[in-house]
Amino acid sequence: MTTPASSMTAIRSPIDPVRAIEVAGAAMVEDTLRRILVVDDETTIRLALSRFLRTRGFEVEAADSGSAALEAIERQRFALMLCDLRMPGMTGLEVVPQALQRDADLGIIMLTAVNDASSATEALNSGAFDYLTKPVELPDLQAAVERAMLRRMRTMERRAVDRLIREEVALRTVQLEREKGALRELTVSVAETLINAMEAKDLYLRGHSQRVAELGAAIAAELGESDHVVELVHTAGRLHDVGKIGIRESVLNKNGPLTADEFSHVKDHVKIGLEILQPLGHLGDALLFIRDHHEHWNGMGYPHGRSGEDITIGGRVLTAADAFDALTSKRAYRDPMSAAATLDYLHTQAGKLVQPQVYEALRRVVERGDLPTLPQS
Ligand SMILES: [Fe+2]
Repeated sequence: MTTPASSMTAIRSPIDPVRAIEVAGAAMVEDTLRRILVVDDETTIRLALSRFLRTRGFEVEAADSGSAALEAIERQRFALMLCDLRMPGMTGLEVVPQALQRDADLGIIMLTAVNDASSATEALNSGAFDYLTKPVELPDLQAAVERAMLRRMRTMERRAVDRLIREEVALRTVQLEREKGALRELTVSVAETLINAMEAKDLYLRGHSQRVAELGAAIAAELGESDHVVELVHTAGRLHDVGKIGIRESVLNKNGPLTADEFSHVKDHVKIGLEILQPLGHLGDALLFIRDHHEHWNGMGYPHGRSGEDITIGGRVLTAADAFDALTSKRAYRDPMSAAATLDYLHTQAGKLVQPQVYEALRRVVERGDLPTLPQS
């Protein structure tokens, strides 16, 4: 079993700096892409812009319409797209979101007429980086392209780091859950040592906690409870009577009816159990289930006299499993009851000792033969 100390050393920092640099580095390598798509329905503008960009060392492809541009983007990756706003067929405003859908890293610069600032603003809102007004001054174009290339690189780096953080958070969450599980398992093992010591004092109790755990978990699953709750019921079942370690042996093993004082002393095992387990806060709701395992559906149980749904679901389930196992186990003063006779008896207790729905779930589990097969001493 993993000890908490060794498992804690396995915790990684939320962001691994080496991986962050690797991913950011990969993003920068990606940005060596210097291919630009020029989209304009006017041939002269297309040719002039393409020629200028080629002299600046870019690889250029030209498209004469929005749909031709989208086809080109599907065919290969571009670092930037210079896109005319007003074109027959698909407008530049319609091209922007579709282009970004195909390549979220694409940098987009719109080309607009002087009097079309509102459309340019709209294009910026839908994801374009920048806009240039026609006629385009070549130095302005060069400056805009450089800004867009830089911004694309920063955006890609940021996305890569965001992705890394998301992956690291997911990984760390899984690790923490695993460590919590290991810690819970360790705690239960230590507490079970107490249980074994206690059950060793009483021949008739041997194996009781384990059987209550398994039967309780089966009832909780039959009721449709989540895997998490089923596991908590199992844990609570294993630990529910740990407080009996604090009960005098003479009372625990008495052959015959208990006096009022003795019964009151036995009842203390719930409180003592919670005191023993209280520091183990990570047992969570399992502690509440243990608190409630002697409460009765009609409010006549102990230690608090809770009733109905004020009793935790785990408490209601454990009451039924505990009663079933106690009645079907041998005691010093009586032989065990059969499963069928025990079900008949507990049927008279539905609505009193146990919740009717919990009784029904217990009956289905028992009748299916899903009983724990642990030996009874
Ligand atoms: Fe108990």
